[in-house]
Amino acid sequence: MKPIAALLVLAGLSTAAPSPNVVQDEQAKRAVWPNGPFVTSGRWILDATGKNLTYAGTNWPGHNDVMIPEGLQYQSIETIVQKVKSLGMNAVRLTFAIQMIDEIYSNGGQDITIQRAFVQALGQANGTRVLNQVLAKNPRFNASTTRLQVFDAVAEELAKQQIYVHLDNHISKGMWCCSGTDGNTWWGDTYFSTANWVRGLSYMAEHGKSWRALVSIGLRNEPREPTNNQALSRSAYNWQSWYGYMRQGADAVHKSNPDLLIFLSGMNYDTTLTPVVQGTALTPGSGRFSFGDFPGYANKLVLELHNYENSIGNCNTLQNNLYRNGFQALTSSATNKFPVMMTEFGFQMDDRTWRGVYASCLASYLPAQKAGWFIWVLSGSYYIRSGTQDFEESWGLLNHDWSAWRSPSYVNGALLGMVKNTLS
Ligand SMILES: *[C@@H]1O[C@H](CO)[C@@H](O)[C@H](O)[C@H]1NC(C)=O
Ligand SMILES: *[C@@H]1O[C@H](CO)[C@@H](O)[C@H](O)[C@H]1NC(C)=O
Ligand SMILES: *[C@@H]1O[C@H](CO)[C@@H](O)[C@H](O)[C@H]1NC(C)=O
Repeated sequence: MKPIAALLVLAGLSTAAPSPNVVQDEQAKRAVWPNGPFVTSGRWILDATGKNLTYAGTNWPGHNDVMIPEGLQYQSIETIVQKVKSLGMNAVRLTFAIQMIDEIYSNGGQDITIQRAFVQALGQANGTRVLNQVLAKNPRFNASTTRLQVFDAVAEELAKQQIYVHLDNHISKGMWCCSGTDGNTWWGDTYFSTANWVRGLSYMAEHGKSWRALVSIGLRNEPREPTNNQALSRSAYNWQSWYGYMRQGADAVHKSNPDLLIFLSGMNYDTTLTPVVQGTALTPGSGRFSFGDFPGYANKLVLELHNYENSIGNCNTLQNNLYRNGFQALTSSATNKFPVMMTEFGFQMDDRTWRGVYASCLASYLPAQKAGWFIWVLSGSYYIRSGTQDFEESWGLLNHDWSAWRSPSYVNGALLGMVKNTLS
């Protein structure tokens, strides 16, 4: 380039408005991961630089009886997060029980120690043994570390490895979820106090302000019919009540932490959100879903659905079901448009099941919709599940001691591609 031309270019650069691309690049450079807070715009989630994004991740349970994220007796937090990262995933759905927050309140504002939590849930001998295994694998902890400090450390490591945290209130009483008779089905059920739920959501939303990776929260996992409580079922298991509770929970979260995206889960084990998407009556009343009912944070709402139609014989049928049950919200035909994520789906981790209709259909459908998802489940095993200690999770991505993939053929044959196709 001749000197005179170079001068003209320099002069031009200094006076002309930068192109939109340059502005975007500059914003991206200035921004710091995770580039929050996120907002929604129609069917998209946007970060603070205006870039759209979604999640591709896995569930990491922390809501079972011990109420500590699973797997730490076998591996360090760093190792487990590296495993998630090696899949190219960008998010973890971290589940918690309201009971943990109830116990913080009843313990004078201090969470209980992991020593007490393990002994309470596993008994003196096994609780002590498993605690010592956790301390050996995770020497940063000690017997008086609290459960919440473990959650903090998990969130911190996820941030270090640039993986978003999506918190999920999975259940009220810390235990395996979900059935129609487990006392955690619906607001007002045996263990499901609405007041404690609201308090617990507020607490975690507020506490999570110190977690760099926290970007969203799910209000409640799999609302469902209390099948052993006809009075509750008749009086309250309906869309009208659902809407009142969701608004209450969303409001509590937003007041405590206005940055978070708020995920709404549907009825019948979070398998349907049809009236919300189609804007039809929230029965038995005649009111309808309205973004105006979420003043100041209508652009924070995301829909989440689960699907476990594992024995479906036909991918078209599954896709039609998903569309009808809520994925329509991603399309222009929806009355109310939202981002939609499948926050749970899963299946037996062997060499065969992932090749079947259900798993392969979801592996193509979700990336094609640019819909986010979390596979159930990361856990190779649980400290305790339904009374059995060291429970083997045959649906787990990881094997029993969380050291390797349970089904390498699935990971290499489908999962890596599904992550890539979702995030590209
Ligand atoms: C972002 O939006 C564009 C369409 O505007 C779409 O093609 C792309 O897949 C989206 N990216 C993600 C991660 O959703
Ligand atoms: C204690 O742990 C051992 C080894 O995992 C197990 O066999 C035993 O059943 C556990 N005890 C109880 C009460 O579950
Ligand atoms: C135990 O670990 C926690 C963090 O996990 C820390 O805050 C506390 O100071 C440690 N206590 C002792 C006695 O080392």
